[in-house]
Amino acid sequence: MTKVAVLGAAGQIGSPLSLLLKMSPLVSELSLYDIVHAPGVAIDLNHIDTPSKVSGFLPDNDGLKKALTGAGIVVIPAGIARKPGMTRDDLFKINAGVIRGLVTSIASTCPNAFVLIITNPVNSTLPIAVETLKKHGVYNAAKVFGVTTLDVIRASTFVSQALNLHDPKGLKIPVVGGHSGATILPLFSQSKPAVTLTHEQRDAVTYRVQFGGDEIVQAKAGAGSATTCMAYAGFRFVNSILKATSGEIGIIEETYLYLPGILGGKEIAAELGVDYFAVPVELGRTGAVKAYPIGSLSGYEAKLLKVAVQELKGNVSKGVQFATAL
Ligand code: NAI
Repeated sequence: MTKVAVLGAAGQIGSPLSLLLKMSPLVSELSLYDIVHAPGVAIDLNHIDTPSKVSGFLPDNDGLKKALTGAGIVVIPAGIARKPGMTRDDLFKINAGVIRGLVTSIASTCPNAFVLIITNPVNSTLPIAVETLKKHGVYNAAKVFGVTTLDVIRASTFVSQALNLHDPKGLKIPVVGGHSGATILPLFSQSKPAVTLTHEQRDAVTYRVQFGGDEIVQAKAGAGSATTCMAYAGFRFVNSILKATSGEIGIIEETYLYLPGILGGKEIAAELGVDYFAVPVELGRTGAVKAYPIGSLSGYEAKLLKVAVQELKGNVSKGVQFATAL
């Protein structure tokens, strides 16, 4: 049983994610922190008839410290989200500082917690989190991840839609790389079971996985980006960690992480030429226990990989520079 803290809990992702966490029997306590409304969201959730207790905190009266004390998992969807015309990178200016501030408090209050970064641009905000924890001497590579689960969910969903398959969950399609545009690399050639896509279908579905977030940003016309599906994706990832730390074996999720700290990761990073990359990761009681190579790629995927790595390098160094500048 684990205490989970959600930072940015009153937001469009934070609230439905907190609802899903309130439903989980593996969560003993839920603490919600936001610069606005968190106590109200907490009281609302506390009327649900599941055993976990929910508390809400604002910045005053040491609220962040109280929210983090004793947390085993901290999930962070705090910051600003995209509006039409914005890329994830446009969020950097504000969200970089938000992540650095929140992770600094994690370092001093619950340094052994899992830290899951949802806040965009994940390609850069995860390196900020990692460097901030390193700076405070509490970085544990097995426990700090950028959440890319939505890309994985989109890959199986969009292929299922393209091929008129009944249940997207029946497909396992690895999605590796980063979490924005061309850095997202769905590996349809490795789908289990295998799928046959025409070149047109492959191009269209790849584009949809890479830029699917834009469909939502445009449809919401200024009112937000992916939120409910992201809460679902975020919950899937947190739940995988909860299950793995409770002893369930064989749990593998793709996640964006600092590879050199994980068994098998150093070799993958050396081969790719970049230290941060989403790959399939085996989760165990102590966190990430093994990183798996991205496997054999089709010619089409190999071309996309080069583009992804190139763009990702810039995103990573932007985050590292920000975090190490002070
Ligand atoms: P939102 O604006 O609805 O919610 C963000 C919340 O963070 C707000 O309640 C705000 O008050 C709070 N906040 C801002 N600064 C804070 C601070 N310093 N401490 C605590 N809370 C703070 O935004 P939404 O839609 O929930 O998105 C949140 C983030 O998630 C965005 O950066 C968005 O781009 C990202 N996102 C990530 C995805 C992924 O796959 N990793 C998918 C979709 C969105």
